[in-house]
Amino acid sequence: MIELAIIGGTGLTALEGLEITRQQMLYTPYGEPSSPIIHGTYCGKSIVFLARHGTRHTIPPHKINYRANIWSIKELGIKTVIAVAAVGGIHPDMRPKDLVLPHQLIDYTWSREHTFFAEDLTHVTHIDFTHPYCESLRSQLLTAAQQVDLTIHPQGIYGATQGPRLETAAEINRMERDGCDIVGMTGMPEAALARELELDYATCAVVANPAAGRGSAQITMAEIEANLKQGVQNVRRLLAEVIRLV
Ligand code: HPA
Repeated sequence: MIELAIIGGTGLTALEGLEITRQQMLYTPYGEPSSPIIHGTYCGKSIVFLARHGTRHTIPPHKINYRANIWSIKELGIKTVIAVAAVGGIHPDMRPKDLVLPHQLIDYTWSREHTFFAEDLTHVTHIDFTHPYCESLRSQLLTAAQQVDLTIHPQGIYGATQGPRLETAAEINRMERDGCDIVGMTGMPEAALARELELDYATCAVVANPAAGRGSAQITMAEIEANLKQGVQNVRRLLAEVIRLV
C-alpha cells in the first residue's frame, strides 16, 4: 500500500534518499501529469513522488496541469499528500530558508483549470473549503518538526499569485493588508483540487526570498536557488520524520 504522495516544487524536483522502485506515466481524463510518478521506499515506507514543475523544472506555475497531477495521485489510491512549495516571505518573521506550515490561503490566481466539477455534471457541487489544509496532517508535520528539533512556523496565510513574474511591491502591500504572510504561485488550485477528491493535503512552504519590496535588493533567481538549497535540507529532515507518523 502506498502511504503518502509528496509533490515537490522548486528546489525539490527529486527526493534524495528515495529508493526508486519504478516510474509510472499516468494518463488522466485531464491529460498528463507534470512528470512520471516515481514509486519508491523512503524511510521504510512506500511513497510516491511527483515533480510539480516537471523532472527538469520546465513547467511554469500557470502551465502546470494541476488536475492531472491530483487525479493521478487519487488514481493510485493514495489518501495523504504533502506538497512542498517555495514562497516569498511577507511577514517580517518569515525569513529566507524558514519553513512555514500554512493554515489558510487566499487565491489570487486566474484562468487556471481549477475544478473537477466543471463538465458532465449530474449535480452542481460546492466543496467545503473553510479550512483548506488538513488539520491532522498539519499537526503531524508539527509533531515531526518538534521531534527533529526543527524550527518551523506553525501557521501562516498563503497568498497564491498567478506568476510567472514576481509581484510588485504594491501588490505585496495589498496582500499584507489582506492578511497574507507568504506568497507563492502553485498553492492554488492544487489545494482545492485535492479537497475535491477528498485527499488529506497539507503544504510545507520554504521561504526562498523576502517578498517584493521587503528585502534590500532586487530578487534574483540565484538568491532564490541558494536559499532553497538550504531550506530544502530541513524539508528532507521533516519528511523523513513525518513519514514515520502518517
Ligand atoms: N512570490 C511568488 N512566488 C514565489 C516567491 C515570491 O516572492 N518566491 C518563491 N516563490
